[in-house]
Amino acid sequence: MAFRSVSSVLYLSASVSGLSFNVPASPPSNASGQISAAPVGVSLEFFTFPEYIQDLPSTTTCLQNLKDLTGTWPPVRIGGTTQDRATYDASSSEAVTYTVASTKDAPTTLTYGPSFMSLAAKYAGKVIIGLNRRLDNISNTIAAALVAQKEMSNLYAIELGNEPNFFVDSDPIARGASWTAAADEASQIEWQDAVCGNLSASDIISAGVYFGTSPMSLVGLTAKEGDSNAYVKDYCSHNYPQSSGGYNLTALMNHKDIATQVKPYAAEIAAASAKGKPHVFGETNSATQGGGGISPTFGAALWILDYVMQTVLMGTNALYFHQGTIGNCENPLQSSPEYTNPPGQYCWWGRYNMGSPYYGAYFATMALANADQVAPLDGQDSAYAAYAIYKSGAPVKVLLYNSDYYTTGTRSSQTYSLAGLTGTSVTAKRLTAPNATSRVDQGQDPTVAGRSFANGTCTIQGTEAVETATVSAGKATFTVGASEALLVFL
Ligand SMILES: *[C@@H]1O[C@H](CO)[C@@H](O)[C@H](O)[C@H]1NC(C)=O
Ligand SMILES: *[C@@H]1O[C@H](CO)[C@@H](O)[C@H](O)[C@H]1NC(C)=O
Ligand SMILES: *[C@@H]1O[C@H](CO)[C@@H](O)[C@H](O)[C@H]1NC(C)=O
Ligand SMILES: *[C@@H]1O[C@H](CO)[C@@H](O)[C@H](O)[C@H]1NC(C)=O
Ligand SMILES: *[C@@H]1O[C@H](CO)[C@@H](O)[C@H](O)[C@H]1NC(C)=O
Ligand SMILES: *[C@@H]1O[C@H](CO)[C@@H](O)[C@H](O)[C@H]1NC(C)=O
Repeated sequence: MAFRSVSSVLYLSASVSGLSFNVPASPPSNASGQISAAPVGVSLEFFTFPEYIQDLPSTTTCLQNLKDLTGTWPPVRIGGTTQDRATYDASSSEAVTYTVASTKDAPTTLTYGPSFMSLAAKYAGKVIIGLNRRLDNISNTIAAALVAQKEMSNLYAIELGNEPNFFVDSDPIARGASWTAAADEASQIEWQDAVCGNLSASDIISAGVYFGTSPMSLVGLTAKEGDSNAYVKDYCSHNYPQSSGGYNLTALMNHKDIATQVKPYAAEIAAASAKGKPHVFGETNSATQGGGGISPTFGAALWILDYVMQTVLMGTNALYFHQGTIGNCENPLQSSPEYTNPPGQYCWWGRYNMGSPYYGAYFATMALANADQVAPLDGQDSAYAAYAIYKSGAPVKVLLYNSDYYTTGTRSSQTYSLAGLTGTSVTAKRLTAPNATSRVDQGQDPTVAGRSFANGTCTIQGTEAVETATVSAGKATFTVGASEALLVFL
């Protein structure tokens, strides 16, 4: 470990202003409930899950890096649009069978065999499996669910359909009628009853699986569940803050804007909680439809960091960040033919390169590792965040995030003065990159405490640089550059 003194460089940097926070000695009234052991998880698109696990060495190492921080393997969800295009084939010896014209395409139809579930069973962490409801072949979905139940000791939950708010009247599940919120609610409950009846199981369905909060919502679904709530393991939302037409990295990563974006989910989380069930973001990431160039950036990593803190504060149990079609997100080598069309997606790793967003996931996991509660010290009404993180009722870490958007010129900074500290010094680890638009595949690697993740393997590399700050009369001061975060260890 290399140490450098924060306090010695402090007065050399220009600050936009100064902020002061007292770190409460016990969790304040606006602290979160109990944080789950591994709140940051991964969602792998259904058709390409076998390829992620079998063909990309980074997959296991990237997940293991997170496990090494918390002691718990991150939860994995296997699903997405292609779960509702998939048919189970008990006689197939292949995990998945499909054809696509290009490695950038997702198949419009596919089959999968029993070995799909054996492969999922090999993952050391908990797994949510997303099955098909759209095609209205319930006996087929039950056949697949029975194999998942039998093969997977790590099975956490089963989804019955992905984003049914996007199903249309002509989909088989609509049975010739209008596909409305009421139709979906009745359908979800009918399927929960039949699937769980055949599995002789309860507490096993990840329900809802809605994109956004309107026109279909967990508030609406939970109102109809009745006794079928016993079949539900958790209630699930999908969230992508940005979509085509409005890509804006400044807004994506902005602390106050994140608070505004996640607000509608408070009622969804409350609806799940009122039914005695956890809430999850079963699929989430920065931007839909290719991401408009913002998704593979360091700013998207900073979004992940603050978004995880804010949603965990609201009471969500876990977030599963979606990893899509590998051909779209592999950040190809500049020498490869694919580089003519550089990917714009949000994947954390690809076949060749790492993605900048992974650094945010790693830092968020580090911040919440082995913690019980997180509390906001700021009012979520500015660009500058501060969180106190508690273990057994005492503060153990403070996370500082300066969400000012930095691309060129002089990098501004924010000074945070923290009071209520004990001891004579504290250490800190910094998450930084050349700027908010930095991409690994463009040669601008972010770093966590000076270290980075190797392209193609996700192995952590470099010498760790831990900073120290002097505590005097219970106070210490920290400087956080625009588009940077700092994790202070108390
Ligand atoms: C439904 O699935 C079964 C196998 O589980 C299959 O035999 C049947 O053809 C499927 N039906 C349709 C309409 O695809
Ligand atoms: C099993 O599923 C079928 C639909 O395929 C359903 O009609 C039946 O009621 C279910 N059995 C139980 C015990 O729930
Ligand atoms: C992007 O978002 C920022 C912060 O919310 C806002 O000030 C800016 O006007 C937005 N830019 C565009 C082009 O909409
Ligand atoms: C949380 O409470 C503290 C006081 O303990 C307050 O200063 C802060 O603004 C609050 N933040 C939010 C988001 O409620
Ligand atoms: C910011 O990042 C972009 C993309 O990686 C890069 O092209 C640019 O040179 C960087 N600017 C600075 C000041 O580092
Ligand atoms: C990853 O590869 C890119 C080239 O595609 C290179 O610029 C970058 O520095 C590499 N990152 C690491 C951590 O080796």
